[in-house]
Amino acid sequence: MIRVQAPAKINLYLHVTGKRDDGYHLLDSLMAFAECGDVIEVEAASDLSLSISGPFAEGLPTGPDNLVMQAAEKIRQFAGGATGARIKLQKNLPVASGIGGGSADAAAVMKALCQLWEVAPAEGDLMALALSLGADVPICLTGKAAFVSGIGEIITPVSDLPTVPMVLVNPGVAVSTPSIFKARQGGFSNPNPFTEISQTTQQLIECVSVRSNDLMAPAIQVASVIGEVIEGLSECNGILLSRMSGSGATCFGLFDTQQDAQQAARSLKSNNPGWWVEQTELFG
Ligand code: C5P
Repeated sequence: MIRVQAPAKINLYLHVTGKRDDGYHLLDSLMAFAECGDVIEVEAASDLSLSISGPFAEGLPTGPDNLVMQAAEKIRQFAGGATGARIKLQKNLPVASGIGGGSADAAAVMKALCQLWEVAPAEGDLMALALSLGADVPICLTGKAAFVSGIGEIITPVSDLPTVPMVLVNPGVAVSTPSIFKARQGGFSNPNPFTEISQTTQQLIECVSVRSNDLMAPAIQVASVIGEVIEGLSECNGILLSRMSGSGATCFGLFDTQQDAQQAARSLKSNNPGWWVEQTELFG
């Protein structure tokens, strides 16, 4: 049995810098990962099948509509098509929530099946396959912090990002990415990746806090509870930065200490029993 972690992806900032003729938006984003995430397990079998467990399993399709099965099918073609696997997905992350759960699952199953079936597609082929599954799948395949541009395919790794105590909060509304891009108004932002070294938390916060998530205002318009999440996070002791990730609705708070993060998670949970609140860490 092969087990691969599928960590949540966090957009520390996200500038929408343009739009392609096919409707996809050009982005400039610093993406990193959380310590928490979904888990993929695979084992040899005659057919390809998917079962899903975990707190967010309910209602998810296990057939060809699931991105995990689409990713698996594509890797199977590399393996000659005549093989199978029993895939298990432990769904710990809320769905359609801006932290790349589905993309991380797809990337994790690609890694797991390449190992199980002993196939080693060329790096370029793997990345092209990942992009064909979704704009966030390539960064999830690398699993490392990076500046990401294009629609998600231009990846410039960042080393030495600090590990920062973090709390993730989702208010229980699933928001559709295309509708948030559609609700966005105004012009485009400039790409603005930074060259300063961000080895300390303070340096990282300084760089990130002068940038923004351009999708946050339209997301709050679509789901005003996201504004309440940001407010709740920003009132917590030791908060360094609170922001929405991706197209929402999940928001993240970065904290000075583990203790601050723990206390914040506890009080956000008890004040808002319907919210998903997870104390974790941001990884470079
Ligand atoms: O690639 P993915 O399936 O994750 O994208 C979902 C939708 O989000 C796209 O169909 C598009 O409407 C929007 N999107 C975008 N620009 C991006 C990524 C996603 O407009 N860079």
